[in-house]
Amino acid sequence: MLAFPEAWALARASLLTQIAPPPRHVAIIMDGNGRWAEARGLPRSEGHAAGAEPVRTVLKAAHRLGIRYLTLYAFSTENWARSTEEVGNIFTLLGQYIDSETAELLASGVRLMAVGDLRSLPAQTRQALDQAERLTAHNQDLTLSLALSYGSRAELTQAVRELATKTQTGSLDPLAINEDIFGQSLWTGRLPDVDLLIRSGGDKRVSNFMLWHLAYAELYFTDTLWPDFSEADFLSAIADFQGRQRRYGRA
Ligand code: FPP
Repeated sequence: MLAFPEAWALARASLLTQIAPPPRHVAIIMDGNGRWAEARGLPRSEGHAAGAEPVRTVLKAAHRLGIRYLTLYAFSTENWARSTEEVGNIFTLLGQYIDSETAELLASGVRLMAVGDLRSLPAQTRQALDQAERLTAHNQDLTLSLALSYGSRAELTQAVRELATKTQTGSLDPLAINEDIFGQSLWTGRLPDVDLLIRSGGDKRVSNFMLWHLAYAELYFTDTLWPDFSEADFLSAIADFQGRQRRYGRA
């Protein structure tokens, strides 16, 4: 038998999916770890450590709702400018997350993917990600993508460079380039358009995240700092999305 909180969460998820279809692809800018720690007189690393728990919570809730893609902005190209200590802390945490969660992801039908300029990641992180990706490659319920060393402008620039090189070497006709071909050249090329973007931490901007895929996304901003982001916060964002009218430029 399911424990009460588990059964209650399932009931709420099933109610929500009856109101309207859930978003297919949810992307999240997990902001506010540093401020959460500073407000408690703790080092920023404690904020990032506390930020790993909502990742588990949101993944579970997304899975229950039948959401197919969840993409998390875990480390931006701009984040390299932080102190070596903080950057090291974030990658240590990521390594711990991959080590502790891969078996559970595998068992629960979740496929793990990393998107971004992955060549710049520490070798250990890359190896752990490669292994987790390989192990979970056949899972089809939900794709969890971690955006790492990711920035949209860098991503768009590398796509242009790749296509330009192909046209120069004659393997691609410039006139054959269309939105599909361009989209497939992105680091995030295997992902569909984002339906809902959630940003925690109070700021209302997209910060160089998935600009191509956000073209028609619904945006949801909350003041809640990421370590405090709960299942209820996630369900509120989903319910808000379900109440939106999406017109895609049509009347
Ligand atoms: C932004 O908060 C958060 C990050 C740069 C790191 C996100 C990392 C985690 C949530 C750790 C766990 C991740 C996984 C996938 C297990 P910030 O530091 O910019 O916060 P601030 O705006 O308050 O300074």
